[in-house]
Amino acid sequence: MDVKVSAAKQIRGSVRTAGDKSVSHRYAMLAGIAEGTSEFENFSSSADCASTLGCMEAMGARVRRNGNQVEVEGVGGALQAPSRELDCGNSGSTMRMLSGIVAAQTFTSVMIGDASLSKRPMRRIIEPLEKMGARIESHDGCAPLTIHGARLKAMEYQPPVASAQVKSCVLLAGLFADGETTVNEPVRTRDHTELALRAFGAELRRDGNRVSLRGGQKLSAIKAYIPGDLSSVTFFLCAAAVFPGSSLVIDSVLLNPTRSVVLDVMAGMGVKISFLKVEEQHGELVGTLQLEGGVFQGGEIGGEQSAALIDELPAIAAVAPYSERGLVIRDAAELRVKESDRIRAVVENLRAMGAEVEEFPDGMRVPGGQSLRGAPVESFDDHRIAMAFAVAGLRAEGETTIRGAEAVAVSFPEFFEALRSVTE
Ligand code: S3P
Repeated sequence: MDVKVSAAKQIRGSVRTAGDKSVSHRYAMLAGIAEGTSEFENFSSSADCASTLGCMEAMGARVRRNGNQVEVEGVGGALQAPSRELDCGNSGSTMRMLSGIVAAQTFTSVMIGDASLSKRPMRRIIEPLEKMGARIESHDGCAPLTIHGARLKAMEYQPPVASAQVKSCVLLAGLFADGETTVNEPVRTRDHTELALRAFGAELRRDGNRVSLRGGQKLSAIKAYIPGDLSSVTFFLCAAAVFPGSSLVIDSVLLNPTRSVVLDVMAGMGVKISFLKVEEQHGELVGTLQLEGGVFQGGEIGGEQSAALIDELPAIAAVAPYSERGLVIRDAAELRVKESDRIRAVVENLRAMGAEVEEFPDGMRVPGGQSLRGAPVESFDDHRIAMAFAVAGLRAEGETTIRGAEAVAVSFPEFFEALRSVTE
């Protein structure tokens, strides 16, 4: 599907996004193994989280869904052998995190994914799960994965990559293992798994970047409103950044500090951000944001900041030509193994729109003060690339065509409608 985006004059209004994808995945998985029926409001409308619900259903959890209201009746411990292959679709989070749970069951399961997911690296979860006692067959480190579940042994693990998915996989396996499992992260990553495990009643210990949990703990169902997805909000933040005088209110957004680095960075680059209301729900911070565009300055992103902004970098890079000073991104080689090679995708699309950009193995340099012209650009079947370039198109001269725009459904099916509602 092609979607055309024309130049906008201003960005104004209010936006509310469906529940955070990272939180929705974790709540769906934990609810599936918990005792009792969990009830979620504002559950993510993403295709990715629907994949997680489908996998939990295939293993005996009962799922009832009415739009963003989702009920999950958990199995209260051990899952049932799946009635079919566990189809993770495009979702790396589903495959990597759920593998930790299925590796600890008494059955063998097969996890499959779409063409993009089948190319993404899975050794990062195979290696720790095999150390804990599972046996996993893969296609040269990629999906399909055949996971032979086993009684797992707890372990202490230091992941070689900064990845919340790997940390979560090991912690979820640790929930079923004999003994105490510890993950010692090289760089602190998003902590939704730890917060969700606590919300469902598990005890965890954190000491700096080390998190430990005892195996054999039981989980109990919860009721929760899932805060809006901050990574989806980022597209609006970038739209506000490139229109001086823009004004947006964003209701009920997840503000977890391990995710909100994007707010610090964009505030540093010139967007005025006010917090109208902040509260805590099940350990997660939630608030309403007011955004006002000023002079978009640009800057440099590298080191631990790149890991913390990994999902947000494509959007910031796509609008960087409009900044005063331009943007340099370093230490973001992980972008090459996301739903697409996101460094290549951004560089190719920016060039298609007439921008000058230099590609590095681990990032890029985008000079500032450039004007772009509308052009056909590709989504590369990647939701975040499609959305990033729809936002870039708002400031370009002429019309931008997003090819393969249907990819947005992977995280944010309502994106184009929401974008239209705030553009003038
Ligand atoms: C996610 C973690 C990140 C992120 C992904 C969601 C999560 O991946 O890119 O979109 O929910 O834990 P890594 O942990 O592999 O960096």
